[in-house]
Amino acid sequence: MKKMLKTFVVAGAGLMLLAGAASASEVQRDAKAISYSFEGPFGTFDKAQLQRGYKVYKEVCANCHSMHLVSFRNLSEHGGPGFSTEQVKALAATFTVKDGPGNDGEMFDRPGLPSDRFPSPFANEQAARNSNAGALPPDLSLITKFRPGWFGTINQLFNGIGGPQYVYSVLTGYEEPSEEIKKEQPEGKLYNPYFANGLFISMPPPLTDGQVTFDDGAPNKVDDMARDVSAFLAWTAEPKMEERKSLGFMVIIYLAILASLLYFVKKKIWADQH
Ligand code: HEC
Repeated sequence: MKKMLKTFVVAGAGLMLLAGAASASEVQRDAKAISYSFEGPFGTFDKAQLQRGYKVYKEVCANCHSMHLVSFRNLSEHGGPGFSTEQVKALAATFTVKDGPGNDGEMFDRPGLPSDRFPSPFANEQAARNSNAGALPPDLSLITKFRPGWFGTINQLFNGIGGPQYVYSVLTGYEEPSEEIKKEQPEGKLYNPYFANGLFISMPPPLTDGQVTFDDGAPNKVDDMARDVSAFLAWTAEPKMEERKSLGFMVIIYLAILASLLYFVKKKIWADQH
């Protein structure tokens, strides 16, 4: 009996120790709960914000990240940033695209066309890793669908998965680690508790206050640019969002009218049966 009790005490103490260890080592923090114009059943993208977000992507992020699922011409399509086709032609031409092989059998560089996709600035994966201390900058086309900002089925049902908030939080989430966490910090990585792939990230903080100048004179602190570029990346991940929402709304109106018609038809047919 005494022996059994002893075993329980030892096991209990062991469990408490384990629990203590688990709470000491941190996990990915929930994204910061900022809000956007495109949330909710009637929310739409703010075109000016998408244009600013594009500019941040182009001037900063495109130095490392591709967007292979987005074509330049998407930027002038309905429900997007609303650039004109002339503007899209001009901005596509500022990117360099690999094409070929030409008549000499070699690949060659040429300026981008509206039909091209956002290219990677690196020749291949190894070149990308070599420039980024071994880490691969992921393609950003679908990042806001791929990475949730928070977890829990009910939470996500009501608040969405928080993809744009995840991007915003990573961009603004570099912090000075505590002494304890510092001991685990790998060489060349920075502490960012919002990053999904461990607490340390290989991306240096990409934004600094005032880095990108907006044509509409909007504020350009790190916080503002992070909001704009995360909104832009919400659009790249779901360019048909506005269409989907207005279609859903029409379907509900249609079903409501159909249901009331059916109700009156039923009443009429059964009227003399009572
Ligand atoms: C100097 C190159 C560089 C620039 C510039 C850069 N990034 Fe990154 N980024 C990286 C690398 C490398 C990683 C992978 C980090 C890792 O795996 O530790 C990364 C990771 C990320 C992640 C996390 C991806 C994940 O898997 O969850 C996001 C989000 C991100 N970048 C967004 C941006 C945005 C938005 C910009 C522009 C404002 C930007 N980055 C600019 C190099 C860069």
